[in-house]
Amino acid sequence: MKIMPVSMPKDIDKYFFNRKKDINMINTQLSTVKFDIPPQLLITGYRGVGKTFLLRKVLNDQNTDILTAFIDISEIMGRQKGNLTEEKILKVILSSIDETISQNKNSYNNWISKITSYIKKLELKNYDFSDNTSVLDIPIPVISDNYDKLSKFVMELPQKIVDSSDEINGFIIVIDEFQLLKNLEKPDAFFWLMRSYAQKQFNVGYVFTGSVSKTSDIINMINGQEGAFGGRLIQINIEPFTSDETKRYIDEKSNNLKFTEEGFKRFYACTRGIPLYINSLSSVLPNNMVCDEKIIKETLQLNIDQIAMMWIYIWGRLSQGEKDFIIYLLENDGASRSTLDNELSYSKSSITRFIDSLSNQGIIEFSFDKKFVLADKMLKLWLKIKFETTGFYPL
Ligand SMILES: Nc1ncnc2c1ncn2[C@@H]1O[C@H](COP(=O)(O)OP(=O)(O)O)[C@@H](O)[C@H]1O
Ligand SMILES: [Mg+2]
Repeated sequence: MKIMPVSMPKDIDKYFFNRKKDINMINTQLSTVKFDIPPQLLITGYRGVGKTFLLRKVLNDQNTDILTAFIDISEIMGRQKGNLTEEKILKVILSSIDETISQNKNSYNNWISKITSYIKKLELKNYDFSDNTSVLDIPIPVISDNYDKLSKFVMELPQKIVDSSDEINGFIIVIDEFQLLKNLEKPDAFFWLMRSYAQKQFNVGYVFTGSVSKTSDIINMINGQEGAFGGRLIQINIEPFTSDETKRYIDEKSNNLKFTEEGFKRFYACTRGIPLYINSLSSVLPNNMVCDEKIIKETLQLNIDQIAMMWIYIWGRLSQGEKDFIIYLLENDGASRSTLDNELSYSKSSITRFIDSLSNQGIIEFSFDKKFVLADKMLKLWLKIKFETTGFYPL
């Protein structure tokens, strides 16, 4: 039986569909890492559109002379207790670099001895071996009074590794859900720090990616005129599948799903070509009959919680104000800033906060007719169906 996964499968290639153009575009950028031109990318796109999947594949497919590390900030946020700090991020970057180089058995010992002597040179004297985040053989320093040195150490490490090995020509580091770095006390300082090191490491490429709206302030903070990377990050937006791509994808990878013409139109209108929704809706549709509009509508109604599952989680973490804001946009089909200021019973500064936070999470976007609108059709549908069936919006 063929499966269309709704979470990251182990065997990416088995489930991965197409994206040839995006892969080419990204690889063209990344390939400069060998030639002393450090690639720096910012990859945006709706939640569920396939950014993580795509980048995992791109990293997997790099030649062996390129080392790669994948850092998911949402995982760090999920695991940690207390506030997100720069130290935590740096430690995770460090352990993921370590994980990468430890796979290269031939060079590992050599690297470790170089790294250790580098630590000594930096005078990172206070090693903390007891900490469970200390990684394999790299002694992690205690950082409380050592932040500058620790950041220097971690941020310069990838280039050091490239320099110390003839077989390695580059290091590519992906920072996924980077918008969550906004939870740091001084996010812009951290971006500036990364930028200042990234600039001087000619064989290290950085890829920032996240489900942020293109108009969010975090993009400005990292790549705007005044932002840390000042427009130097090459911005690539990953688009949903087109209707044709969706059709081909279903033909190739689904478990024999069949649609009437109207049925497929409905299917595409509901999923909007977002692979996450294509996969989750496909997994609940019957595969022993031809799906028409009615079947799709009913299946969606009945299974909305399963299909919109990630929204249940995200919704639960929003503040009441943010929920009220979203519901207002839902019921009014979007609203301009001045309407929001007049109609919502929140202060202007609260409304500004809602807008920042919701656009950084890719939940709202600023439309061409200068209104704030909900960015995700499935979120709308979920709220609507919940309201219709229970009489109130999810709490
Ligand atoms: N190119 C693709 N081919 C097949 N399935 C995909 C593809 N891109 C994404 N998916 C599916 O959609 C899900 C969500 O993708 P993901 O990369 O996590 O989205 P994002 O990171 O943009 O939020 C994945 O778990 C996978 O099942
Ligand atoms: Mg992702």
